[in-house]
Amino acid sequence: MNDFPPPSDAALDRLKDLVGDGGWRDSEDAGRYFEDPRGRFSGQARLILMPDNTDEVSRIVQICNAEQLGLIPFGGGTGVVAGQLSPDNGDAIILSLERMNRIRHVMPEDFAMVAEAGCILEHIHSAAEDHGLMYPLSMASKGSCTVGGNLATNAGGIQVLRHGNARDLCLGIEAVLPSGEVISELRPLRKNNTGYDLRHLLAGSEGTLGIITAAALVLKPQDPETVTALCAASTLGDALGLFQQLRIDLGDSLSGVELLSNFGIELVTQHFPNLRNPIDQVSDWYLLVEVAGQAGLVDRVEASLAACMESGLLPDAVVASSEAQRAGLWDLRENMPEANRITGAICNSDTSVPLSQIDKFIKMTQEAVLALYPGLRINSYGHVGDGNIHHNVFPPEGIPKAEFVAANPELIEAVRETINRVTEDCGGSISAEHGIGRLKIDDLERYGDRAKLDAIKRIKRALDPNNIMNPGAMVR
Ligand code: LAC
Ligand code: ZN
Repeated sequence: MNDFPPPSDAALDRLKDLVGDGGWRDSEDAGRYFEDPRGRFSGQARLILMPDNTDEVSRIVQICNAEQLGLIPFGGGTGVVAGQLSPDNGDAIILSLERMNRIRHVMPEDFAMVAEAGCILEHIHSAAEDHGLMYPLSMASKGSCTVGGNLATNAGGIQVLRHGNARDLCLGIEAVLPSGEVISELRPLRKNNTGYDLRHLLAGSEGTLGIITAAALVLKPQDPETVTALCAASTLGDALGLFQQLRIDLGDSLSGVELLSNFGIELVTQHFPNLRNPIDQVSDWYLLVEVAGQAGLVDRVEASLAACMESGLLPDAVVASSEAQRAGLWDLRENMPEANRITGAICNSDTSVPLSQIDKFIKMTQEAVLALYPGLRINSYGHVGDGNIHHNVFPPEGIPKAEFVAANPELIEAVRETINRVTEDCGGSISAEHGIGRLKIDDLERYGDRAKLDAIKRIKRALDPNNIMNPGAMVR
């Protein structure tokens, strides 16, 4: 349900007084809080609040709960399923954690750090590095996404294969519940079996059960050696065979394996002319592989790649020999979403399947999408090491998106549904790492486990009886 009452002027005044000057903005001054990163629609709100500390968040929530006002937690604004936007109701109040951006403690002996929700991911990386450690969660939006948003959406990214999703890198949370009560479980404990694990309930809850205000994050030792390579593959089957072989040869030191197609790399290099594919001979598929671990790793990676070349699995590969080259390889990957957007994607999926189904999944999806409309172009890429493929679908060559969509208004939904159906047929998930937000509620209703969905709704009602926390996200 996303129908909540308009805030009274008295309630708005109390909220503004509570946070003081510098702690709020009017909606006229709020452009960035209303933007969808993919430009599909605009959010709205009556007021943007930017509290400075957890106590202020708690008092805001108490007022909103008493008045039954709709509150939308806001991190870096990088979510792509409209979890942070209210396109249909202008009476929402956005609660941005941006001023709660302090690193409270780094605890090197505990391999942990307590950081507030508004800390930007890249700042967490630097703070860990300052202590000779690392926080492994990483993704293209690292310069703007925040700790709170990462946890609330259980973000994935490019190192899940080795280090897990955001929830796997969190030891504890501080969060404000819809009642205004504060859970404060920030001890850096590796073991803590004391009842339901609310940390894991709130991670991935997309702001529907409470507002994460701080977290105890897992830090890890830095890897003495990192090897990054772009590997060509003649067929999708070979690319997947290469991944399997590297996994066997290099074990848990394989930290990221990203699938790229020649079509996808062409889109990136066309729109980012400073980037180039360093492999001269064109192949249909590529794997961007990153391996990190103890000294001696470079030799092991090179031996594994050489054996794959010998067996005919790997026609060509480039191993980065400098940090600049490594960054250049990652730029090819990390600019992919932007290249897709500029090219005019009419659909961007975020689906995962078991590793054993990836080959079938990509081929079946491409066939099914082309059967809907011959000539559509498809860029299938992503975190293949996690079975998480993003299919991006474009109009036929030469037809601008707006013109194509106007002429085929039903097609976007048909493509989305086709990808979901193939995902289901391959035993996968309709949302691998982006969450449900407001865009995938129907998909969750359709494909989600019935008993799980009922339990989600009961938990929501029990913790948030007035439906003030991100109303309209994840469940109706
Ligand atoms: C990516 C985003 C879309 O992996 O999740 O590029
Ligand atoms: Zn992704």
